[in-house]
Amino acid sequence: MSKPTADVAGIAYALRDVTVEYGRTVALDHLSLQVARGTWMSVLGRNGAGKSSLIKLLATLLQPTFGQVELDGINVARKPGLARRHLGYVPQSGSLDGRLTVRENLEFFAAMQGLRGGARRSAIDQALAPFDAFADRLVAQLSTGQKRRVEVARALMHDPDIVILDEATAGIDAQSRQAIWDSLQQMRQTRRVTVIMTSHFIEEIGQTDRCCILHKGQLLGEWATPDLLRDYGGQFYRMTAKDAAAQDALLAALPGAAIDPTSGDVVVTLTQHDPALLALIAAHSARLHVTPAPLDRAIVEATARLAR
Ligand SMILES: Nc1ncnc2c1ncn2[C@@H]1O[C@H](COP(=O)(O)OP(=O)(O)OP(=O)(O)O)[C@@H](O)[C@H]1O
Ligand SMILES: [Mg+2]
Repeated sequence: MSKPTADVAGIAYALRDVTVEYGRTVALDHLSLQVARGTWMSVLGRNGAGKSSLIKLLATLLQPTFGQVELDGINVARKPGLARRHLGYVPQSGSLDGRLTVRENLEFFAAMQGLRGGARRSAIDQALAPFDAFADRLVAQLSTGQKRRVEVARALMHDPDIVILDEATAGIDAQSRQAIWDSLQQMRQTRRVTVIMTSHFIEEIGQTDRCCILHKGQLLGEWATPDLLRDYGGQFYRMTAKDAAAQDALLAALPGAAIDPTSGDVVVTLTQHDPALLALIAAHSARLHVTPAPLDRAIVEATARLAR
């Protein structure tokens, strides 16, 4: 696990011993985390792990029960309004006003962000450019994916330093997902923006620099994404057994081994380097193919090993 950087000037977020409680439910439990400016971070964890609670806390929409949150050096509890000027936020559930058009929603938000005059008009025009076809339609009449794209455009329209996305691409088609991802990548190429996001799409998680895993409100760890894969991913073995007896021996000896129904091969992911098992695999396989295990496997393995 890598250490957070000590350069305070380069820190987008510093969370110190933060606890969030909803009544008797502890959603975040003594969590400390630093996020360096310019980082793209995925917040990972199972349903109910506390991801949205952390995201809302970062978005200043939730106050910690204990502990302290600093955003760009601003104490969020003392100056939430100032902190919000730095932020673009896409919540997990819909946040547009369905009774207004797309344009009206963006106009309202631009005013809330303190954009005025020419700067306001050009920010709105730029944000609306991809939505020519439905800029003047009521939001209530848009599809889920169209609404989501508008929410992302709205979050980016005031050029925030920090963008926070809670499952921004959930439940929408591949093209809309790509469009959202493209707009984020475009912003990344032009400005040094910090992005903190949750997603259940492994290909999106794989494109973030860093990730952290929450489990029952606790932070299990925080890694550069390739380090998580290296430390917990292990190797994926595909074995064509020499004969039926060899296949039985492999299935009996390898924990979690299964038959791939398409090819009939024995498949297993091994996260530890055990010389005895490797010798057994070599002795019973007519053909052997080894590849790095995918990132989702590393996330499951890290959670299993680190959760107490
Ligand atoms: N408004 C609320 N009132 C009471 N409990 C809540 C509230 N919001 C969340 N919780 C509880 O806090 C815990 C963390 O919830 P949270 O929404 O942060 O999880 P999550 O990781 O975002 O889950 P998911 O993947 O399902 O979105 C859960 O036990 C949840 O039931
Ligand atoms: Mg959530």
